Amino acid sequence: MSKVIVSGGCGYIGSHTAVDLIANGFEVVSIDSFIRSEPSILKHIEHVSGKPFLNYSVDLCDKDLLKRVFLEHPDAVGIIHFAALKSVPESVANPLSYYNNNINGLCNLLEMMSEFNIQNIIFSSSCSVYGNVKTLPVSEESPIGRAESPYAATKQMGERIIEDFIRSEKGKNAVLLRYFNPGGAHPSGLLGEMPQKNISNLIPILMNAVSSQQANFYVHGDDYPTRDGTCIRDYIHIMDLADAHTRSIRYLLNSKNSNACEIFNVGIGEGVTVMEAIRATELATGLKVPYNIGPRRDGDVVAIYADYSKAARELNWQPKFDINDILASAWKWEQYQKQFSK
Ligand SMILES: NC(=O)c1ccc[n+]([C@@H]2O[C@H](COP(=O)([O-])OP(=O)(O)OC[C@H]3O[C@@H](n4cnc5c(N)ncnc54)[C@H](O)[C@@H]3O)[C@@H](O)[C@H]2O)c1
Repeated sequence: MSKVIVSGGCGYIGSHTAVDLIANGFEVVSIDSFIRSEPSILKHIEHVSGKPFLNYSVDLCDKDLLKRVFLEHPDAVGIIHFAALKSVPESVANPLSYYNNNINGLCNLLEMMSEFNIQNIIFSSSCSVYGNVKTLPVSEESPIGRAESPYAATKQMGERIIEDFIRSEKGKNAVLLRYFNPGGAHPSGLLGEMPQKNISNLIPILMNAVSSQQANFYVHGDDYPTRDGTCIRDYIHIMDLADAHTRSIRYLLNSKNSNACEIFNVGIGEGVTVMEAIRATELATGLKVPYNIGPRRDGDVVAIYADYSKAARELNWQPKFDINDILASAWKWEQYQKQFSK
């Protein structure tokens, strides 16, 4: 069984990817300090995967502790690096914590990769690297724009650091996955997003608004040059995204020692406005979404959606779900969680 080290395996995308990897016969070892997740996620992962789940509660910025984990798992065939802080507004307010955590964590992990001669890495990048784009959809060839936030800057730097590292290390390979906007939950409804603080992603905000029926949700700007004035994003189902990782690790294992650093967009190629997402939430839940219109938010781009043809061609990846599936599964997870908070 091929062993994969997953940093941030207790976070939203990491936990769903871990479940998908396990279902596809991989062994997963997670490193997650729980800075933005909760140990209770472990039982959800184990419940869904039907296997024990090993996580080291270690901060990637602590190189000595990190090395101890790698000493126990020198046989890993690859690393999937999810662990990072990810809130755009928080990064605008507190840039140094973002540069410290996201850049130092990555550099330490790459040092381990070099020291333990682990061949493959997959990096969680983001469509935020494109900035405010002129032409849609964006392909991997689209120019990298000015990073609109310190968070986006850490993703641009992360990509550059990995490209330089791969060039300097014989036989190492990387895939940089530029995610669009992940949402939804495992179809079982037993695993989903557990946002900690500074929730800034739309789907959990919508779930919270509809569940609480409190009008504390603000649409950030309705005067953008889009079809209804609100921002456009490409929402990708979490299980489609997890599948892209499983395919990427297989792709890397099959292209041995090619010193490749390949970039793939992972979005579904459809733009949805905030207002359309609100209507779709009402359809999925049968409940009204209470909301207010607020001012624009620093760091937000106007509109973005993906050309994913390269992932379709090279990884044989196709999205299976749309915004309605995302919201239906997120709602199922929300209902499941409610049973336990009563
Ligand atoms: N969710 C999104 O909308 C989105 C979009 C594009 C890219 N990404 C990227 O995907 C990755 C995963 O995102 P997510 O949504 O699962 O986030 P998340 O916050 O749910 O998960 C990240 C996990 O990493 C852990 N972590 C953070 N810093 C750490 C450190 N220094 N040492 C050990 N553990 C640490 C946290 O505890 C958390 O469990 C991130 O790199 C994020 O920037 C996310």
